[in-house]
This record gives sequence, C-alpha cells and structure tokens, in this order.
Amino acid sequence: MSPFRIAVLASGTGTNLQAIIDRLHGREGIEVACVLSNNPGATALDRARRVGVETAVFRREDHPDRAARDAAMADFLDERGIDLVVLAGYMELLSAEFVCRFRNRIVNVHPALLPSFPGLDPIGRALEHGVAVTGVTVHFVDEGVDSGPIIMQRAIDVPYTRDRSQLEKEIHRVEHELLPRTILLIAQGAVRLDADNRRLVHVDDRRGSRHG
Ligand code: GRF
Repeated sequence: MSPFRIAVLASGTGTNLQAIIDRLHGREGIEVACVLSNNPGATALDRARRVGVETAVFRREDHPDRAARDAAMADFLDERGIDLVVLAGYMELLSAEFVCRFRNRIVNVHPALLPSFPGLDPIGRALEHGVAVTGVTVHFVDEGVDSGPIIMQRAIDVPYTRDRSQLEKEIHRVEHELLPRTILLIAQGAVRLDADNRRLVHVDDRRGSRHG
C-alpha cells in the first residue's frame, strides 16, 4: 500500500514536528514527505533535514502577495501528492483558496481549549483570564482563525502557582502526544465529518476517547 503522505508547515522551533518525526515518520504507513516554512531560520527545517525530509521555504516577500505565495505552496504540495497538511506552529493565516484546495485535509494544533482563546498567545490570555482549566485542541482548518471543526481535545489544569513556564511545559507534553495520535487516526480512516452538522467530527478511536 502507498504511504500516507503528510506535509508539515512550521515557523519556529518545531518540537511538534519532532514528535511527529519520532512517533510517525516511516511507521504505521505514514511518511513525512516535506516540511515547509515561511521562515528560513526556523529550527523546524533543521529537524527535517537531519532525517532527510525535503524542505522548502515560502517567504511572503518572495511573492507578489500572500495569496500568490499560498498558491505556490499549494502547487508544491499537490505535485508531491500530499494527503494531509499539518500546521505545527505555523504563524501565518492561510488564504481561503489554499484552505479550499485542501478542504478537510489541513489540521492545526492549538494550545487552548477552543473555542476559548483562539488566535495569538492563548496561554498568556488563559492565565490573564484566570481560568482554572485550559488545554490542547487539534482541529481541521477552515477559513477562520482557529475556528474549524474540533477533532481531539485534552484538558489541563492551570497550576495553582499560575506559573507560565510550568503550564507551557505541560501543554507541550500533551501536544506532542495528541497531534501525532490525531494524524495516525486520520491516516487510518478513523476520523470523519458528520454529514449534517459541519462542526461535528466523529472519531473511531478504539484505544480511548477523543478526549485523548
Ligand atoms: C505550539 O504550542 C502550537 O500549539 C502552536 O505553536 C506552538 C509551536 O511549537 N500553534 P513548536 O514549534 O512545535 O515547538
């Protein structure tokens, strides 16, 4: 059987990419086919090169506008027969055309319990807001900001001390489990959208619940 080919888009450190490489690349019929970034200095690119995964940089300033950049990126992914696009710390919004070309084939990991705290600095805003519980969400990407259908979520208690670095550490630990697990379930065909309710995702996870 041909492998399930994923592309990872990352702008920064790439610890989520590393978790995907460690847990899934070359296993379970999954291949990380390429890693794309808008940032030529992203450590994520080094992580990909280290394991021989193709990399490419699509900077906004190298194209007439964002839509043209995203169209070039979509062509690149199409040429490589990508089954799933994974946003792992990709710090730019994708154009509506890009989302349309990969409809229901783009997932994102977000460090909050959506629909709470979409957008930038969700961890800081959760702490400022005084919530007792936050978490991690993996969702399909639509045209909005962190607004697509939720696939998997896991709740995390905010530490009593409200210590940001402690909370960040716990969020990353959970992300590194939840994102690869969601990708695996999608690759296995265990994730499907409800036919009537466009927000609803059905996950057939025999090893546990969709709460991770
Ligand atoms: C993660 O917290 C992810 O949820 C958010 O960006 C961060 C990326 O971290 N979207 P890393 O680059 O994978 O280490």
